[in-house]
Amino acid sequence: MQENFSLKPYNTFGVEAKAKYFVEVNNIDELKEALNFSKAQSLPLLFLGGGSNILLAKDFDGLAIKLSLKGISEKIVGENEVLVTAKAGENWHQFVLYCLEKNYGGLENLSLIPGNVGTSPMQNIGAYGTEIKDIFVDCNVLNLETLEIEIFDLEKCKFGYRDSIFKKEGKGRYVILEVTFKLTKENHHIKTEYGAIKSELANSGIENPTIQDISKAVINIRQSKLPDPKEIGNAGSFFKNPTIPLQQYEDLKQKFENIQGYPNGDFVKVPAGWLIEQSGWKGKQIGNVASHKFQALVIINATGNATGKEIFDFSTEIINSVKEKYGIELEREVNII
Ligand code: EPU
Repeated sequence: MQENFSLKPYNTFGVEAKAKYFVEVNNIDELKEALNFSKAQSLPLLFLGGGSNILLAKDFDGLAIKLSLKGISEKIVGENEVLVTAKAGENWHQFVLYCLEKNYGGLENLSLIPGNVGTSPMQNIGAYGTEIKDIFVDCNVLNLETLEIEIFDLEKCKFGYRDSIFKKEGKGRYVILEVTFKLTKENHHIKTEYGAIKSELANSGIENPTIQDISKAVINIRQSKLPDPKEIGNAGSFFKNPTIPLQQYEDLKQKFENIQGYPNGDFVKVPAGWLIEQSGWKGKQIGNVASHKFQALVIINATGNATGKEIFDFSTEIINSVKEKYGIELEREVNII
């Protein structure tokens, strides 16, 4: 247990913020011990996974627990199916690579997403035509009140776009300990429908892609437009893509004929990156903070010296100007602490 501990290395924005107490736990017993300490001292809790979806807007006056439970196991369940379980502290991309090496399919479109396995269900991570709900079986969680382990299956997790029970009624009540995915062994379901993947494969002259080819294509696309948090502090998409009623979209189309949208029933999902770019923010820098020059949806710690508050204020300015121009209120995807 450490006191007055800098969380700078534990958040991918790379902002300075101190936790009153900090502890890294490697197993459930250590986790329970930490929880007992926080209970005895009435300390608020902050769970840290890969630190890739949080913005530390100020110091944290409680106990920060870094979840470092490690291990991967697997169980063959059918001709073409394997269940792979990874503990919360496994790095997401390393886990994807592990599965690709064994030729297990299902995770390839989710290559190179920052963060750890344990946080993947929280916001139902997704990219390039796949969300984890597509291959998710269940996760084991620790109930923070009873300290009992519970199992949450697909239905119980209530996954939605960048959403789950863990962000709603389950918020602050559970810690995810391990996650099980159902993957394919041979007859893989290759997903190339996401536009950029097709053109990336075509550029490399690949006609019948393997899951490894898909992974490489996704890695190339991501590296070409998303900043590497090891080099420039960021937390991926800062905002969610907003969903607006069809009528509102049609009204906007009258005024802004280039507006983009993906219809979904009576609603349309509008790319936040487009709205932000059209509001003049792409590549714009104020002080230490900027919107990324290749993907406006990503806010970066441009100089490495940004504070969490500066980043938060920058995001508020983006929200205000998109609201003013389009009447759409962007919602932050990143958790503000
Ligand atoms: N766009 C712009 N300007 C920009 C950025 C995007 O006009 O600066 C337009 C693009 O031209 C494109 C559309 O917006 O037509 C969508 O862009 P893109 O394909 O880059 O995807 P996105 O909707 O911006 C989402 C996820 C990403 C994920 C990609 C690929 C959200 C909030 N973000 O971004 O996830 O990698 O799709 O599937 O849903 C993340 O969550 O951290 C993340 C990076």
